[in-house]
Amino acid sequence: MPLVSMRQLLDEAAKGGYGVGAFNVNDMEQIQAIMGAAQETNSPVIIQASRGARAFAQDRYLFHLILAASELYPDIPIAMHQDHGNSFETCKSAIELGYTSVMMDGSLKEDGKTPSSFEENVAVTKQVVDYAHERGVTVEGEIGVLGGVEDGHGAGGSGLEHITDPDQAVEFAERTGVDALAIAIGTSHGAYKFTKRPDGSVLKMDVLIAIHKRLPSTHLVMHGSSSVPKDLQDIVNEYGGKLKETWGVPVEEIQLGIRNGVRKVNVDTDNRLAITGAIRKVLWTQPEKFDPRDYMKPAREAMQKVVSQRMTQFGQAGHAHDYSPISIETIAKGYKDGSLATRPLVAAK
Ligand code: G3H
Ligand code: 13P
Ligand code: ZN
Repeated sequence: MPLVSMRQLLDEAAKGGYGVGAFNVNDMEQIQAIMGAAQETNSPVIIQASRGARAFAQDRYLFHLILAASELYPDIPIAMHQDHGNSFETCKSAIELGYTSVMMDGSLKEDGKTPSSFEENVAVTKQVVDYAHERGVTVEGEIGVLGGVEDGHGAGGSGLEHITDPDQAVEFAERTGVDALAIAIGTSHGAYKFTKRPDGSVLKMDVLIAIHKRLPSTHLVMHGSSSVPKDLQDIVNEYGGKLKETWGVPVEEIQLGIRNGVRKVNVDTDNRLAITGAIRKVLWTQPEKFDPRDYMKPAREAMQKVVSQRMTQFGQAGHAHDYSPISIETIAKGYKDGSLATRPLVAAK
């Protein structure tokens, strides 16, 4: 099956009332882990690459690895997504490569660190929407700013500094025509999200629910959605790691989000922890080993286990064969003739 539009995946998820995990990749083993999990659970998938991932793996290696996945698993719909595009140019280059979806993260300036103004965000996101939709490519925007820094990307802070304002979310969705909207509700990228199990004072599910009420037909996206499970932290630390005690986003809160319009759930850190724990364990307990396959295979298996679990918890499991893929060309026509218009349905306050 060719790569499919993320818009189609998310529209189907909305129809079915489930969420779709968007998992970050940097290498072949991570792609294999996701596809293994998708096959095991019969799930549609979103594979996403950050700018850092594209630079690390080199664009063409990464893109062809994902094409290989679509050849090896012809029955599984795969959307390939640019995570946190920092500029029109970054998104354009992903579209030229063949990505079927891009995130224009205009919540930050092009440096990927400094919060931008609302008007700057609207302008650059709209520019990407116009370019992408003409080519049948899905666009995710972001309003409000997440906390944390990953690989130099991010505003830092706790995530509470720039919580999304529901009125701004409505205006942003209306003026840009994005297909999916990432909102800031107190989560951060990376392992250090919360210093205790989060409650409503730090994880603003009420804001998410308020936004969904105002924008009932906009696909919401939760970034920074790793749960940072204690058992994965413990494995890393048992075998020589030095992670400080930390809490992520409880899966039940993500499920509450999914009941309230969340269709895309971004997870990277949990997989990083699973991989690192598995590699540490082999190298710590069997220091004589030096064949990378001896630790990459358990690492891949550990990631597959986490991804399978999340696919099941988010509800996408069992939905890979619900629909046939719509070609990107047909999707482009839909944007043009208005049948896929993303003008949001806005509900009264
Ligand atoms: O946006 C956050 C993802 O975890 C990707 O992180 O920029 O270090 O590849 P990265
Ligand atoms: P985590 O760091 O919580 O896995 O978040 C990943 C993410 O939001 C990627 O865009
Ligand atoms: Zn993110």
